[in-house]
Amino acid sequence: MKIAVCGKGGVGKTTISGLLCRTLGSKGIPVLAIDGDPNPNLALTLGLDPRAAMPKALTSKLLEVYEKEDGKKYAKLNSPLSEVMDTYGIKTDDNVTLLAVGQPEHAATGCMCGIHTTVREIIHTALEESEQVTLLDLEASLEQMKRGTSKYVDVLLCVVEPYYRSMEAVARFQRLGTELEIKNIVAVANKVKNAEDEEAIRQFCTQTNLPVIAVIPFDATIAEADKSGSLDINAIDHSPALKAINNLADSLMKNYCI
Ligand SMILES: Nc1ncnc2c1ncn2[C@@H]1O[C@H](COP(=O)(O)OP(=O)(O)OP(=O)(O)O)[C@@H](O)[C@H]1O
Ligand SMILES: [Mg+2]
Repeated sequence: MKIAVCGKGGVGKTTISGLLCRTLGSKGIPVLAIDGDPNPNLALTLGLDPRAAMPKALTSKLLEVYEKEDGKKYAKLNSPLSEVMDTYGIKTDDNVTLLAVGQPEHAATGCMCGIHTTVREIIHTALEESEQVTLLDLEASLEQMKRGTSKYVDVLLCVVEPYYRSMEAVARFQRLGTELEIKNIVAVANKVKNAEDEEAIRQFCTQTNLPVIAVIPFDATIAEADKSGSLDINAIDHSPALKAINNLADSLMKNYCI
């Protein structure tokens, strides 16, 4: 199963991505987590120590460009994904390997083209080489969706908060996901404080035909645990939000595991 997590800035993409990976990993499922944000912080929600070694930034040198009979140029990884994971990744205690896109390759242009293609090809290769779950935590902008970075995912998880601009942003991600022909585009409501919040999200999602597959409550313990940098799972073991993410993990495995 290959998942991309999108949504407006600050909605909780990285928190949900990290905790989802840890939940799946601790159930014995190998997880490849890709931090797609050039300003990365998935490592922290995966519980990694920011002072310890971080993943080596992925680079377009991992790609081999070739031409097909149609005369068009294509790219593929020039070494097996397992090697890329060993060389560029960091492993956590929860069965998760983290890869990260890093900063733009050319400072003057800010060009990320090669990186987007590299991530796309990693996702493309991921299931062919192993049974693992691959999760891509996207940056808040629509850029990666426009560049087709998420093209090969099975599930686009659109994280949405109960306020209009967040819902409107999700509708834009949904449109781009549809253009990329992603099979399963679903919403995860986050930071829900009461029944009214949930109803507002459900109403909006009904109008845009977006199934809401999880409702994660606003949970002060998560925000509190996040303050210290690396997210300590023991500090949130009774967290209602973590429980909801656990249920989300089960539902994803049951309904979308391909
Ligand atoms: N269910 C929740 N309850 C309370 N706080 C939450 C919840 N989910 C996330 N947060 C808090 O919201 C803030 C933003 O979360 P996070 O960094 O995961 O968002 P993001 O969408 O990845 O942001 P960005 O767009 O900058 O990448 C963090 O302080 C996090 O602790
Ligand atoms: Mg983030």
